[in-house]
Amino acid sequence: MRRPFIAGNWKMHKTVSQAVALVDELIELVGGDQGVEVVVAPPFTALYPVAQRLKGSNLKLSAQDCFWEEEGAYTGEISPPMLADVGCAYCIVGHSERRHVFGEGSDEVARKARALLAHGVSPIVCVGETLDEREEGRTIKVVGSQLQGSLEGLSQKDMVKVVIAYEPVWAIGTGRTATPYQAQDMHAFIRGWLGDSFGGGVASSTPILYGGSVKPDNIRGLMAMDDIDGALVGGASLKASSFAQIIEGGKG
Ligand code: 13P
Repeated sequence: MRRPFIAGNWKMHKTVSQAVALVDELIELVGGDQGVEVVVAPPFTALYPVAQRLKGSNLKLSAQDCFWEEEGAYTGEISPPMLADVGCAYCIVGHSERRHVFGEGSDEVARKARALLAHGVSPIVCVGETLDEREEGRTIKVVGSQLQGSLEGLSQKDMVKVVIAYEPVWAIGTGRTATPYQAQDMHAFIRGWLGDSFGGGVASSTPILYGGSVKPDNIRGLMAMDDIDGALVGGASLKASSFAQIIEGGKG
């Protein structure tokens, strides 16, 4: 049985004081919840203060990106051991904004995923097609090749710690969610791909999250689908009340 998994990606939002205020409200609303894996991904500057607040709650901490080296002359970068040290259980990699705004490729995503796993941090690996790719009928091909490239070099044992997020680029921040059926089709494809590549055990245990304009009023329809295990939420995770409603809806 896969446990529902709801993660909030705060992107480039929240100062330290705003982040602490948001997480305090969330702990109040959902901090004792046992039924859902709840994760927050603040910006780097807020990771440490948020980690302090999360102690003793059921909420887990995630970073939004990392570099793959452990340390060195890499100005501006943050390494997996630094994230582990600050208390991150997870780190998002290959988010579409990293791929499209910063030109990251799947080979880099895989290097990051491997480096995180070596330090006990679970990667949340994002994949998803653009609107043009969908309209040209290339969705399966694009997502299949992103999976192949982004999970390159990972073993069956590594996969036990990996979370996949399917985020169609055309649904991110646009208010245009994939329908539950469109999302389910892709989640079923991803689960099948995991089965072919890593075996049935990995396919049935890997959480596959949907991301793209998830809101309190559409979470239940998405969660009702067999292969949708949770959500990676952007905009609606920036307010405690709407994120808490999504967590409630995530219980199905
Ligand atoms: P929105 O929920 O704002 O569409 O963002 C989705 C996303 O990119 C989460 O990582």
